[in-house]
Amino acid sequence: MSIHRYYTLTLSEKLLYTSFLLLVGLGYLMATAYLYVTHEMNDTKPGLSVEDVANSYYGNRSGTRLEAAIRGPMSGFISDDDRESMVAWLKDGAEEEHYEPNIKPILTKTCLNCHVASSGMNLPDFSTYQGIHKFAEVDTGMSMASLLKLSHIHLFGISILLFVLGFIFIQCEINVHFKRFLVVSPMLAVFVDVASWFLTKWDSHYAMVVIAAGAVLGFSMAAQILISLYQIWFLKAPATPAPPLK
Ligand code: HEC
Repeated sequence: MSIHRYYTLTLSEKLLYTSFLLLVGLGYLMATAYLYVTHEMNDTKPGLSVEDVANSYYGNRSGTRLEAAIRGPMSGFISDDDRESMVAWLKDGAEEEHYEPNIKPILTKTCLNCHVASSGMNLPDFSTYQGIHKFAEVDTGMSMASLLKLSHIHLFGISILLFVLGFIFIQCEINVHFKRFLVVSPMLAVFVDVASWFLTKWDSHYAMVVIAAGAVLGFSMAAQILISLYQIWFLKAPATPAPPLK
């Protein structure tokens, strides 16, 4: 198929292209903001960091939410001896057989004043083993099922988006090598991004790759959108007919 040039487009086509490009740009900003607000507190510190990304795929395997709570915000409700017994139980695998004799009495002392359904405080209920066990498991990050779901939605959705975006973008006039780079780089970035989610689940160091791939995707999309928008409206037809586009 021969490729149009922006200056041969009708006004209707220019308006269609432009509104699409603007909406995609806005969508990208929204996606970035969404990632920020949903991930920034993963490591309990404000601001998005490599740890936040690592925690969401790899999890925080150094401990459980229960241990973090009794060392942190809930530490005032438990004595040092009781805390030690509870941590020992957690490190031992939080077995049900030790729950009734060793752990339930500790919980009953103060925790259950608040952590039962009847307290009306809408807090996790610790009056049963099942209730506390959810907080006693090592946090291994996103489940395989969630990862697979997120991956196929991203791969299908973003590749169609990048195809339409790229189809508009290849009508611009820039250095042909740079053009080919900008066409391929976001597709490659999406692939590397998705692959690195799985790698991060296995080894948290790959969180760096997730971030790098996201940055390449952002850069390539921004370049495609801005170059296209500029040339659609400001590139003038040359006096002599230009050679066909590559
Ligand atoms: C005075 C009421 C009160 C008592 C007593 C209390 N908690 Fe809590 N607990 C809360 C509230 C409120 C929250 C939710 C806010 C927060 O996370 O700080 C909470 C949250 C938690 C969480 C969830 C943290 C997370 O990761 O989301 C855990 C685990 C927990 N408490 C454990 C305990 C244990 C163990 C005890 C007893 C040693 C205890 N709490 C005693 C009020 C209480």
